[in-house]
Amino acid sequence: MKAQRLEEIRPRIQALEAMPAVPAIVLPLTAMLHSPDQVDVEKVIDLVSYDGTIAAHCLRMANSPLFGRRNTETVRSAVFALGLKRIEAILLGCCLNRIVPPDKWALDAVTFWRHSLGCALVSRKMAKLIGYPDPEKAYLAGLLHDLGILVNIIACSEDYPRCIQAAREAHVALHRGEEEHLGFTHCQSGKILAEQWHFSSDVIEVIEFHHDVAAVPTCGPLVSLVHLSDLLCRLRDLGYGYYEAMGMDLAGDAAWATLVGHYPALATMDLARFTMDIDGAMEEIVAVVDAVFKP
Ligand SMILES: [Fe+2]
Ligand SMILES: [Fe+2]
Repeated sequence: MKAQRLEEIRPRIQALEAMPAVPAIVLPLTAMLHSPDQVDVEKVIDLVSYDGTIAAHCLRMANSPLFGRRNTETVRSAVFALGLKRIEAILLGCCLNRIVPPDKWALDAVTFWRHSLGCALVSRKMAKLIGYPDPEKAYLAGLLHDLGILVNIIACSEDYPRCIQAAREAHVALHRGEEEHLGFTHCQSGKILAEQWHFSSDVIEVIEFHHDVAAVPTCGPLVSLVHLSDLLCRLRDLGYGYYEAMGMDLAGDAAWATLVGHYPALATMDLARFTMDIDGAMEEIVAVVDAVFKP
């Protein structure tokens, strides 16, 4: 690992905070996430209403069957239908989308957000299935897990196409291409920005360890949950837009063992049934993701 290279780009990552579109919305939002009791609903409705893209995004989500609501026509009713935590996650997603200048998207933007939103929805579904107490936290962690890819696209714009190309040609995960051509991965660079933006410690842990669950210091269940959701998405056509040669043995995955450690009832869970439940939801999730990103 070329640690020196990560140190070289650290100032560039830290400078992202100074980009004009970012702090105005992202920082107050993350502050709200830290103290949900102080969220001002009217402020959120205003924020959503001011921004056409975000408003449309919220309406599409609120009207999707996945959120159990149809015919939502106003931003106000969309905010109430979705709930504040989801609205915050959507806002955060939209804001992050804007930190990448349009001409810098080395990875197709729609592909990236389909993967992130897909992972958010699968994480939430899985959280409910296993009894994880905060499904909306799982949603947020799923949405943000690949934050470092955005960081790398911006901070390493010259080298990033080579990372993608190498991973695509070898049919391996994107972080392998990053290791080869950058000397660090989106897990490390994402952690730097997530700390800079004061994300909660469990979300930072997901960003840092979602490709290496065995290294998680706290052995928290959230990283394992998002790790499995990420794999499921990449196996079900919600990956990075190219074929990855990989399989999934749920029972043999270290992340599943961690989850069983936290939720012993999972040890007796019918895995075939569990996979079928996730697969059943996947079709709907792909439809929602496509509806959200329809031009
Ligand atoms: Fe990743
Ligand atoms: Fe991912």
